[in-house]
Amino acid sequence: MTTERSLVLVKPDGYARGLTGEVLRRIEAKGYTLVALAVTTPTREMLAAHYAEHEGKPFYEPLVEFMSSGPVTAAVIEGQGCIPGFRSLAGATNPTEAAPGSIRGDLGRDWGEKVQKNIVHGSDSPESAAREIGIWFPDL
Ligand code: TYD
Ligand code: MG
Repeated sequence: MTTERSLVLVKPDGYARGLTGEVLRRIEAKGYTLVALAVTTPTREMLAAHYAEHEGKPFYEPLVEFMSSGPVTAAVIEGQGCIPGFRSLAGATNPTEAAPGSIRGDLGRDWGEKVQKNIVHGSDSPESAAREIGIWFPDL
């Protein structure tokens, strides 16, 4: 494993619940470095690029609606294996099923809505990370 970068988002639910600090604390406690950090309300255009792989799926529209509903905290993190490492910190996509100890498992739950409000996003591969970092931090 080599040093790599991942794009992390604290989604609108996590931001509104005041969980940005808790997510960043876990990232730093794990030993990953914060390379860039910003609070922004994403445009639908940014989200269409970010979630291009999911276009056409039943959860796509509610997801874009939710993600553009308020501020998110975007971060670029760095460290050996931080792409799978942060996915492991985040836990399974469905917060009801996510293991205790993970961000989604400890802090998330089902809210009975069309979209899973699961607190965080993390890149799933080096290719995704490069693409996503370009969307959220074009100057990096
Ligand atoms: P996905 O990339 O599959 O999950 P992850 O965030 O773990 O990489 O899906 C992107 C987001 O879409 C996910 O975080 C929450 C939402 N989503 C739903 O609302 N319903 C679903 O059935 C799936 C698969 C995802
Ligand atoms: Mg994903």
